[in-house]
Amino acid sequence: MLEISEDGRTWVLSGPASSYAVHVTGRDELLHLHWGPRIGLADAEALALRPLPDYWPFESPLDGREEYPVEGGPRFVRPALSVRTAGRRGTEWVFEGHDAADGELRLRFRDGGLAVTLHYRMPSSTDVVERWVTLDNRGPAVELLRADSATWTLPDRDAWRLSQLHGRWGAESRLTRSGLTHGEKVIGSRRGHTSHQHLPWVALDTDATEERGEVYGCALGWSGSWRIAVAQLPDARVQITGGAGHDDSGLLTLGTGESYTTPVFAGLWSDGGFGGASRAWHAYQRAHVIPDAGRDRPVLFNSWEATEFDISEEQQRALAERAAAMGVELFVVDDGWFGARTSDRAGLGDWTPNPDRFPGGLKPLADHVHGLGMQFGIWVEPEMVNPDSDLYRAHPDWVQYQPGRKRTEFRNQLVLNLAREDVREYLWEQLDGLLAGAPVDYVKWDFNRCFTDAGWPEDPYPQRLWVDHVHGLYALLDRLRAAHPGVAFESCSGGGGRIDLGVLSRTDQVWTSDNTDPLDRLAIQHGFSQIHPARVMAAWVTDSPNAMLNQRASSLRFRFVSAMAGVLGVGGDLTRWTREELAEAREWVALYKEIRPVVQRGDQYRLRPPEGGLSAVQYVLGDETVVLAWLQAQRYGEPVPALRLRGLDPTASYECLETGEIHRGAVLLHHGLRVALRGDLDAKVVRLKRK
Ligand code: GLA
Repeated sequence: MLEISEDGRTWVLSGPASSYAVHVTGRDELLHLHWGPRIGLADAEALALRPLPDYWPFESPLDGREEYPVEGGPRFVRPALSVRTAGRRGTEWVFEGHDAADGELRLRFRDGGLAVTLHYRMPSSTDVVERWVTLDNRGPAVELLRADSATWTLPDRDAWRLSQLHGRWGAESRLTRSGLTHGEKVIGSRRGHTSHQHLPWVALDTDATEERGEVYGCALGWSGSWRIAVAQLPDARVQITGGAGHDDSGLLTLGTGESYTTPVFAGLWSDGGFGGASRAWHAYQRAHVIPDAGRDRPVLFNSWEATEFDISEEQQRALAERAAAMGVELFVVDDGWFGARTSDRAGLGDWTPNPDRFPGGLKPLADHVHGLGMQFGIWVEPEMVNPDSDLYRAHPDWVQYQPGRKRTEFRNQLVLNLAREDVREYLWEQLDGLLAGAPVDYVKWDFNRCFTDAGWPEDPYPQRLWVDHVHGLYALLDRLRAAHPGVAFESCSGGGGRIDLGVLSRTDQVWTSDNTDPLDRLAIQHGFSQIHPARVMAAWVTDSPNAMLNQRASSLRFRFVSAMAGVLGVGGDLTRWTREELAEAREWVALYKEIRPVVQRGDQYRLRPPEGGLSAVQYVLGDETVVLAWLQAQRYGEPVPALRLRGLDPTASYECLETGEIHRGAVLLHHGLRVALRGDLDAKVVRLKRK
């Protein structure tokens, strides 16, 4: 809902529980008024009448109060917008008016030939505010040094706490919380992709708990380099500004007639604690971001950990047969099926099946997999090339490079320059041909190194490549999806290096981490769930001991229950699993299929975090509830604490499908559910159904 004051200078956007209000003063300053519980237009107008503080000349009354601080004039905060034209830097805009259509509010400003439009949208039945900015240049060339998507302003409180998700390869999305102090906390990526190091999300609270209290969150929809700066200003006001690009040194130059649209920076206020905020983010993504989210994701098998580069059609057939017998629904051939890709030293770029390994191409295997009743998927890494490839030998200038400098190789590969139209066209032809040439239902799209030499000698202003690479990737994905609507896509980047709202709007699920150790995964999944839903969080059961990472041994039970918290997959070498293991796995897969709608579409409650001995997650969908519980290590023979459930009706009774016991809702909510867990690395699934 949008309310607009009579003079057309105050706006209030409202969702089911919250409102967001801004106001343009008579001097064309755009002030932030409110972000929090629902208010009406009269409240916003009262806020607009509050005078700005009467500061001495060493502070600016605008700082911390402006909706989108530009560079220049009486401001000392980090600008969201920084531009340079011949002979002048900064922006001094005039307000031109607003438009409101299709649930979107646009506030239009102009500085000479440069039009700056701020966009706002609250998609239906959510409290998420989507914000972005467009810049249209009708004047002489303008250098965009920085153009953030939005700046978010928090209300005055005594002390704020910042939550963030940090990590590295094999250890993504780990949650930390720390008190904000004066100055700035900056997170981001200067790597060309979203990165393993930080997810583009922050949350701020003062005294929230998992189920209570106010939480402000912001998440950026951008899969390239990015930056979010959280600033506690001198008078303790807090602003968060963020957008594409890491530095202020230049996004791109806008020639006459050119325009730039920032990615969306979404914000959410919730008073339901961290858990309530996560559930609201999840619901928003399922309803407005993730394609086809109402359709549950299939159980997949992925061949990577089983076979790595040593693959053949026969061996993949053998794996597929075992996977099908286990109840797997989608069989994915990972790396190694194309070009001269017998190791990571060659082949990237040559997207035709390796003739020694797949003499008849991929179709015979795909047909076999389909014959077994499964869908068929393949791995690709289109944005990359090995120097040892036909593609690179033919087009050494198609990669990112700085003239006369070394071309840095990571994993023996270089990054293709997707800002070039010929490169994008080549990739389109290769991928379109691949999807047309064999019955492929699923594409795992990988990105296994960061940018290092992001140059393009033909471009007079090579910074543009950082932005255009992401636009090129998005355009390719969009075009492929449109041409092959039956194909689902997974976003992978050495595990969880490319997870954000931008890529999620054009992929069906993401690879959470290359770390498939079921215990480490609990913490990674806990962090992931702060912002993204289980519906996109791929998790595989792999071999024990965990060969990839830490040699930790764990039961099949523990591995399955850990992976059942998201989109279940299996990634072990099934040819080495015993008959008993295969039979047990079959039962777990069957159980997962039963609980899948609740896990993938339900409301998620984090009952206990993974730090302690006992952790648990609960999902609720309609009358059904699923609890997944994990015991890391039982100490001193102590009994395992009961799990206080959430989201149930206290007046209802619930039947436990595992034991047949009838539980009263009020008892489960207040006294908890006892789960029989013992020893080390034990796990249980409990299904409850409302009577
Ligand atoms: C990345 C992915 C893995 C696997 C390999 C293949 O590391 O995260 O899952 O696909 O590439 O090279």
